[in-house]
Amino acid sequence: MSRLAVIGAGYVGLTTAVCMAHLGHDVHCTDVSEDRIAMLRSQELPNHEKGLVELLRQGTEAGRLSFSTDNAAAARSAEFTFLCVQTPQGSDGRADMSYIEQAAREIGPHLPSGSIVVSKSTVPVGSTHVVERALERSDVTVASNPEFLREGSAVHDFLHPDRIVIGAADESTAIKISALFLRISAPLVVTDPPTAETIKYACNAFLATKVSFVNAIAALCEAVGADVRQVILGMGYDPRIGSEFLRPGPGWGGSCFPKDTAALIRIAENAGYDFGILKGVIASNEDQRQRVVAKTLRSVGGSVAGKTVALWGLTFKALTDDLRDSPALDIARLLTDKGALVQAYDPTVTQPIDGLAICEDPYAACAGAAVLVVATEWDEFRWLDFTKVREQMATPAVVDARNLLEPAMLRHLGFTYEGIGVI
Ligand code: NAD
Ligand code: UGA
Repeated sequence: MSRLAVIGAGYVGLTTAVCMAHLGHDVHCTDVSEDRIAMLRSQELPNHEKGLVELLRQGTEAGRLSFSTDNAAAARSAEFTFLCVQTPQGSDGRADMSYIEQAAREIGPHLPSGSIVVSKSTVPVGSTHVVERALERSDVTVASNPEFLREGSAVHDFLHPDRIVIGAADESTAIKISALFLRISAPLVVTDPPTAETIKYACNAFLATKVSFVNAIAALCEAVGADVRQVILGMGYDPRIGSEFLRPGPGWGGSCFPKDTAALIRIAENAGYDFGILKGVIASNEDQRQRVVAKTLRSVGGSVAGKTVALWGLTFKALTDDLRDSPALDIARLLTDKGALVQAYDPTVTQPIDGLAICEDPYAACAGAAVLVVATEWDEFRWLDFTKVREQMATPAVVDARNLLEPAMLRHLGFTYEGIGVI
């Protein structure tokens, strides 16, 4: 078993640290946020992630998992240092590498000779050289091990990945990194760093494209009177297409697809390739939010000015508390810009959000509402008492941007119902 440092205790870093300790390694995980480290030391989670707290406790109690804000100390004893800091979107679309460079500068002087630094953050093609330059250590090797976990199922995805990708310049480094995952059964793709980095962007861009494609098919269904739910069923049985990631919705969001699609366009541009198809995917994703807003306006007779809109769901998808680049928030802002009072409920959100009234329960959000918009697919919304919902509302209208609810049941109760591509 190996000694690991994990730099950054966010969604990826914390999952990596906790799961690597679960696999038997000794892990020291750091973050710049003292509050976050204090929480983790008291075995509390900074995020909402199934299964994580149990493994956090197990690892800490077994003495294999520790936390601090001290990058130098973490690096000093590490055979492998995983970089898991954020790579947000920079002003011109490219990935902002400043957090990676800063972290590399902080650990550089302290790394043991012969140790390996592994980037798990999503970084532009060629970034191992950026890390090498920031480390200023010719006796340390830098490699890439992109992460494919999803928020909401991070622990499961880490421990049961569809594949493990390792990008290393030499075979011996690749073998050492792959040995860290010996207890995980998954196909291993060993390649060079630029290819590993490209695989990560290609996956996220392809998945975003798939969602935008199905959203376009849903728009077509509305125009021709077809039902997208049946269309998806018919498409999904073809194993070349598959039924996963074909749910129409308000458009994709979250901390990664938006920034990674923008970054890939930029990477391509710098390399002299115009990634037109991906530009179209991004544009249609922006339209998708507008389409939900247009449906909402139609359902209340053309204008939301001075009207109350109930909004169920604020996170970018269910099973996470992450609000980064959430389509639900975009829709809320577009509606408030048009004069609506938006009353929102989300099971993970209690903090105030500018311009929105945050409600304690889904019924309270519906009080006096002219329309209810379902923006995140929280399962609990399906099981509510819709007679009670109707009684709260000024007019019984539903725009279901996740095709979550049962149209026949709602129409039977007197609601007007609009889904995405649903007749
Ligand atoms: P995050 O913002 O949740 O976490 C990053 C953490 O790093 C923060 O807590 C921050 O305080 C800490 N940090 C920043 N600089 C530091 C430093 N110098 N030393 C120590 N800690 C530092 O980000 P995330 O969602 O975990 O994403 C991290 C990377 O992984 C990104 O490149 C992202 O694209 C990629 N990724 C994310 C996911 C996901 O589901 N969120 C999945 C796969 C890949
Ligand atoms: C995504 C990828 O699925 C992960 O493999 C990847 O590691 C991660 O990005 C990353 O690089 O950060 P995540 O952002 O957690 O994971 O969320 P997804 O479940 O992929 O959903 C992304 C967006 O697409 C959400 O807004 C979701 O609502 C939307 N979506 C997804 C749909 O609208 N329809 C679908 O069928 C699937």
